[in-house]
Amino acid sequence: MPAAVKVEREIPIRIGPTENLFLRGVFAPTSRELSAADLEVEGEIPRDLFGIYLRNGPNPIFQPRGRYHWFDGDGMVHAIEFRDGKATYRNRWIATEGFLAEQRAGHSIWPGLMDKPDPSAPRGAGSDGWLKDTANTDLVFHNGHALALWYQCGLPYKIDARTLDTLGIENFHGALRRTVSAHAKVDPLTGELLFFDYATTPPFLTYNVVSKSGELIHHLAVDVPGPRLPHDMAFTQRFSILMDLPLFWDPALLTRGIHKVTYFPELPSRFAIVPRHGTAGELRWFEASPCYIYHVVNAWEQGDEIVMDACRVIDPEPKSTRGEGELARMKAFLRLEAELYRWRFNLATGAVKEEKLDDQRVEWPTIHRGRMGQRSRYAYTSLVPHFEGLVKYDLERNTSRKYLFGPGITANECPFAPRVGARDEDDGYVVAFVADASLGDEGRVVIFSARDIEAGPIARVKIPQRVPVGFHAMWVPGEQLPA
Ligand SMILES: [Fe+2]
Repeated sequence: MPAAVKVEREIPIRIGPTENLFLRGVFAPTSRELSAADLEVEGEIPRDLFGIYLRNGPNPIFQPRGRYHWFDGDGMVHAIEFRDGKATYRNRWIATEGFLAEQRAGHSIWPGLMDKPDPSAPRGAGSDGWLKDTANTDLVFHNGHALALWYQCGLPYKIDARTLDTLGIENFHGALRRTVSAHAKVDPLTGELLFFDYATTPPFLTYNVVSKSGELIHHLAVDVPGPRLPHDMAFTQRFSILMDLPLFWDPALLTRGIHKVTYFPELPSRFAIVPRHGTAGELRWFEASPCYIYHVVNAWEQGDEIVMDACRVIDPEPKSTRGEGELARMKAFLRLEAELYRWRFNLATGAVKEEKLDDQRVEWPTIHRGRMGQRSRYAYTSLVPHFEGLVKYDLERNTSRKYLFGPGITANECPFAPRVGARDEDDGYVVAFVADASLGDEGRVVIFSARDIEAGPIARVKIPQRVPVGFHAMWVPGEQLPA
């Protein structure tokens, strides 16, 4: 039976012909917001798969003022809800203040990441205040709704996880002092939201805790030597881990308004470990070999040690490939080549041990969200640079299993979805949108049995429009959704 598709809104994409690959093909923005129930399925959707998979990503509308960077596009959430063996799809733009202002103006207002700051443009957002806040990077589920977040530090936008309506800015009852970076975390045991933000003006890095019910209960300025560009943080049951890594805007150029991300291998990687509600006096720095980290897998306490697993970038300032033109530097950074790596911070001795866990190049790590901050065994990652495969790690046995999607097919971040009633950490499914140019105007969501990744998808759900390649995704278990 064909899906029941309703076009909720159409906003024509006003971008002219372009050679920029991030505006073409599997990246090209979609113009329609759909609601579609009873989606067609190849295979069978398990009846014990109950919840919503949400994925954020860029979906620009207007002709860019300058060069388009993939990170510039207006945020759009695509979601698929599973219940009783059926699937429903929706997609909606995130109605940020920047999105609404450009809708009123009918054109792009702010420059993009690869442009120069424009003093004549209205004040923008981000860690240096000149970009459009798109909220396009990731999503976290806290206090009954999703929050759409932006990697450059923006305002958190409340999203109804079911309808995808933008409910407004979450300012935590007026207590939000500044902004929120992407990769805020929710402790599944306490319901607390932990987040950081960074800026080019002091304090250069802050750390914050919000209670389960939305009260901002802790704020700490983390003392770092200058503007930094952390992308993620970690937490355990008692501690939070903030990062001062040696990849940041060249300070000499920044004073002249030039934003050049530069690697300083002569500097160490520094990790601030602070009790969850701790003071500056309780914060301790641990030094490790220089590196950059986009994404943390998980962290936990083990004896005197804090163990942190993350994808450690192989070459933090990758060289451009000749012949790739003006997008070469962006494309080099977007290869995201990283390896699974473990740090052990000894709270008793101050020592740091570090080791590579595997040679495969992987990114976009996810785990069972109910295990975050606690010792966990399994991680699900994507093979890079092309997101051409899914790799499941057993980090206790140091083994991995892999599935390759096939020629021309790439997957977005693949969150784990626990089976209803599951007890074991990997008893459930892995869900992802895949991009496949050969599907034309259709999209696909694939469902794997998490215990048998190598067998390939147990179901492929047909999405009635192409879903552009995007950024981060999350799974919200059905029992956590408001009634
Ligand atoms: Fe990220």
